[in-house]
Amino acid sequence: MKKHEQPPSLDYSVQLKKLQEKYEAMGQDLSSYLDGLLYSDYLTYWDYIHLDTLLSLQTPRTRFKDEMVFIVYHQITELYFRLIRWELEQIATHAHPDASFVSARLARIIRYFKNLTGSFDIMTEGMDKEQFLKFRMALLPASGFQSAQYRLIEIACTDMINLVAIEERDSISNQSDVDELLAHLYWRRGATELATGQKTLTLRQFEEKYMELFRKAGRDFGGSNLNALLRKHYAGNTEVAGRLRELDTLANVLWPLAHLRSAARYLQKDPEDIKATGGTNWQKYLPPRFQKIIFFPDLWTETEKAEWGRAAFARPVPE
Ligand code: HEM
Repeated sequence: MKKHEQPPSLDYSVQLKKLQEKYEAMGQDLSSYLDGLLYSDYLTYWDYIHLDTLLSLQTPRTRFKDEMVFIVYHQITELYFRLIRWELEQIATHAHPDASFVSARLARIIRYFKNLTGSFDIMTEGMDKEQFLKFRMALLPASGFQSAQYRLIEIACTDMINLVAIEERDSISNQSDVDELLAHLYWRRGATELATGQKTLTLRQFEEKYMELFRKAGRDFGGSNLNALLRKHYAGNTEVAGRLRELDTLANVLWPLAHLRSAARYLQKDPEDIKATGGTNWQKYLPPRFQKIIFFPDLWTETEKAEWGRAAFARPVPE
């Protein structure tokens, strides 16, 4: 090799040409950007994932050590919810979501829900009951009930009529009227005193902050939630149907049961159960056999729906 020749690995002319084309197309001067590259620092792991910020987000309200477990596990759950929404949004906004694309995304969502369900013992077993019962009093009237991402996942999974309180479904006059549907969502009823019609403070604050967002989500996902897509495109597809059934079981039976076990461990007491921070009658509100929220009702037999959330379903999370 002659002295002035570069070895092939050091010949950057092709890359430089491509870069020049890229920046020219945007009316930009490549040489200024190359200067920028020269002066910029190397990326580090901690900056990339914003580790310092992440670790600054745990701020207990009390001196009880186990409150840290409670905060971090809620944050972990919200991050999984974010991943689940990420996949649901890709399915909903895809111009031509073919069955293999949808099936692969559903497999991811199922994996996330399995992880959440399988790890709930971090809550159920992982805190000292005495500490929990004390630090929770400093959190009133906040409740996981106020998880907006949980509600957005529901809206992206199914037609809103399937999220209306079961006793009120027949009273809905127009199933495409998002405002009418929003007024009857099961969780709004769950946090309303039936005798007086009074909403809990937890519900009032939640509505004030998020109702507009839910209205928008209701409109955005009206024709592109998973149940609507199932009807339109995948009615006879057994692979997609199988995944959707698994998702329904995880999201509406197994995770709620794992969560309910936590509520029972900490709040069940003779002769009178301990009040929930969100103020619901949690023994009547939380069990999936009472809520009967089913994202994909066409995929279940009448018997399966009648038995929803009962013992037959309460098996461990499938591997
Ligand atoms: C010791 C742990 C926990 C206990 C005792 C507990 C208790 C409760 C109770 C009693 C409710 C009913 C609403 C109320 O009146 O407050 C509720 C709702 C809820 N919690 Fe938890 N929770 C725990 C952990 C979690 C975690 C880690 C999450 C994750 C984000 C979570 C998310 C939710 C959601 C989404 C609801 C609404 C469920 C629905 O509307 O069907 N909870 N929780």
